[in-house]
Amino acid sequence: MSTYQEFIQQNEDCDGIRCSWNLWPSSRLEATRLVVPVSCLYTPLKERPDLPPVQYEPVLCSRANCKAVLNPLCQVDFRAKIWACNFCFQRNSFPPSYAGISEVNQPAELMPQFSTIEYIVQRGPPNPLIFLYVVDTCQEEEDLQALKESLQMSLSLLPPNALVGLITFGRMIQIHELSCEGMAKSFVFRGTKELMPKQIQEMLGLMKPATSGQQGKPLAPHDAAASCRFLQPVQAVDMNLTDLLGELQRDPWPVPQGKRPLRSTGIALSIAIGLLEGTFPNTGARVMLFTGGPPTQGPGMVVGDELKTPIRSWHDIQKDNAHHLKKATKYYEALANRAAVNGHSIDIYACALDQTGLLEMKCLSNLTGGHIVMGDSFNTSLFKQTFQRVFSKDYNGEFRMAFGGTLEVKTSRELKVSGAIGPCVSLNTKGPCVSDNEMGVGGTCQWKICSLTPATTLALYFEVVNQHNAPVPQGGRGAIQFVTQYQHSNTQRRIRVTTIARNWADAQSQIQHIESSFDQEASTVLMARLGVFKAESEEGPDVLRWLDRQLIRLFMFHLRRSPFLQVFNNSPDESSYYRHHFVRQDLTQSLIMIQPILYSYSFYGPPEPVLLDSSSILPDRILLMDTFFQLVIYHGETIAQWRKSGYQEMAEYENFKQLLQAPLDDAQEILQTRFPMPRYIDTEYGGSQARFLLSKVNPSQTHNNLYAWGQESGAPILTDDVSLQVFMDHLKKLAVSSSA
Ligand SMILES: *[C@@H]1O[C@H](CO)[C@@H](O)[C@H](O)[C@H]1NC(C)=O
Ligand SMILES: *[C@@H]1O[C@H](CO)[C@@H](O)[C@H](O)[C@H]1NC(C)=O
Ligand SMILES: *[C@@H]1O[C@H](CO)[C@@H](O)[C@H](O)[C@H]1NC(C)=O
Ligand SMILES: [Zn+2]
Repeated sequence: MSTYQEFIQQNEDCDGIRCSWNLWPSSRLEATRLVVPVSCLYTPLKERPDLPPVQYEPVLCSRANCKAVLNPLCQVDFRAKIWACNFCFQRNSFPPSYAGISEVNQPAELMPQFSTIEYIVQRGPPNPLIFLYVVDTCQEEEDLQALKESLQMSLSLLPPNALVGLITFGRMIQIHELSCEGMAKSFVFRGTKELMPKQIQEMLGLMKPATSGQQGKPLAPHDAAASCRFLQPVQAVDMNLTDLLGELQRDPWPVPQGKRPLRSTGIALSIAIGLLEGTFPNTGARVMLFTGGPPTQGPGMVVGDELKTPIRSWHDIQKDNAHHLKKATKYYEALANRAAVNGHSIDIYACALDQTGLLEMKCLSNLTGGHIVMGDSFNTSLFKQTFQRVFSKDYNGEFRMAFGGTLEVKTSRELKVSGAIGPCVSLNTKGPCVSDNEMGVGGTCQWKICSLTPATTLALYFEVVNQHNAPVPQGGRGAIQFVTQYQHSNTQRRIRVTTIARNWADAQSQIQHIESSFDQEASTVLMARLGVFKAESEEGPDVLRWLDRQLIRLFMFHLRRSPFLQVFNNSPDESSYYRHHFVRQDLTQSLIMIQPILYSYSFYGPPEPVLLDSSSILPDRILLMDTFFQLVIYHGETIAQWRKSGYQEMAEYENFKQLLQAPLDDAQEILQTRFPMPRYIDTEYGGSQARFLLSKVNPSQTHNNLYAWGQESGAPILTDDVSLQVFMDHLKKLAVSSSA
């Protein structure tokens, strides 16, 4: 291993791990002085085409409160057929099936290249995947038409044995019986009255009929599933379902002047969740909500139907004037928790020009590992292509989605786990490696992740508990094991095990070594996730103050201005949306979100990255800005004039044509792979959409200091946010005046 750079890269490729520090400070005291905690980003299902899963069960440490999985770091006595657990030092004998092992005949899990290994533990009768579409019909004709086409298309992407179901809603809710012969029925529910899970099951015929003196009881899930006509295999009903979707009409109830349509999203979702709960608990399922506006009646309503009462803003929320906020959030949280318990995930596709209530509903996706996609209309490539990407396949032709995951973390004695931040919920599992000092979702060593993709990335934070006066023996290593159990999209149960170790270092004598092991990119994302977590749970100014204190030693100017922490200029729905994506993306994507990338294209050389600063905006440049959610191509003043004059059409200006084309090609490449697909903006000097670029660049020249600086180049930015220079000056003052 020659450099840390290579070491870091190799660990990411192999184990899906990036650690803030790659040498760990050997005592609690030293660790707390380092500001950035011992922590890591972990991508449990990172794609590994070179890692064929093994077809047997993992071997576990026999100590009851340890149960760590046999791994390459364990000491093995091949003659005595004994292995020592590297977490608790228990000596374990190998199971009988390992009788033939020797130095030259080792099982995969002992080989160093299998620090990450995947076990297939159940090949039994496959459970089908389930897709339940929940479709809002209170939409403009154009949106509904486009949505219907996308839904029809999606049927062809499902595996033939997947089960599908359809619920449509407006003022009333309809759940459609799917059958391949005769007339299909549908059951109609009112959207105003809260329904208990049992009532829903009764109404859907998922109960044993009541007999004299005996109340009806829910059918066992297996029987309920067998008799349920609402979920059917795609291959049996796809023709009929395609027709049914094609015939869907807009909600027939008239909407009076000055009113919003009545939209019963809350009850529609509770029926979807009740149906799956009664039929397929603990089976991989996606509830996919497609909505064109906010819930306006019944439990879960976010705004009333009077148009003159606008949907809550940040201002209303701060003034405690958002009447439905608490009640609606509580309602959706309860639904989300029920779905999470059963391993069902809920996706929200919200397409509308105004807010749709994501702030209240986001927990549905957050707690269940579902997707959130927000767009202006269902008739946009942003929605259509993003939706198609949900069904993308891996190198084996299998879906890039997994269900019902649990992640367990084990640590060697010098460490404890403080918490996780990502699309997970606590399983409240106490144990010897759980720290009292919580960061993120803590107090547990196990988390549930209802739905995962190969990109799903969790941040995990650790506490060094070793005391200063109890030095770690020379050459000692700390170890962490991640055990992820999940249902693969081909419905196998699998267990992925990753075991990592890092050397301990004495921070007093080896501070340079520790410093050189610092992974700045990983640390940026890890600290940013802590910031976003705090922003979700605490007041804004406190979070910025916290961040500024951290910033004195860790530079995160752009994060401070990012939409993840600043709610200025964003609606509550938008803030929820940005944060949702930020806490689940991998390192590269997260870095783009924190600090958008700006590329410059000009005649003076090949395209190059330039500073995200207003001084980068020049007349003879084209800029391509990637903020993750937006791709902006901006033509400088001169370039824009040439383009208007049509130089690119003339043979003698072929090179200008090429210059115009280059950023388009680069943008195309990004558009093709990102999830969700970014908003694409093509603009120029003076264009109204140029604000997308101007709002992101660092205001080195603002209307406050433009004249003082007297520069000729660059474009002034109208903002009240502080510039990098002012910010740095302020930080320096803070740094010398505070005792932090
Ligand atoms: C969707 O948008 C495209 C392009 O703007 C338009 O041609 C098409 O008619 C729209 N679809 C519907 C159903 O209105
Ligand atoms: C389903 O399709 C079959 C054959 O294509 C047809 O006979 C039947 O009427 C259809 N049912 C519905 C409810 O459309
Ligand atoms: C997701 O849910 C957790 C609770 O499990 C919460 O702490 C976190 O702030 C939420 N994150 C987002 C982005 O909504
Ligand atoms: Zn053990």
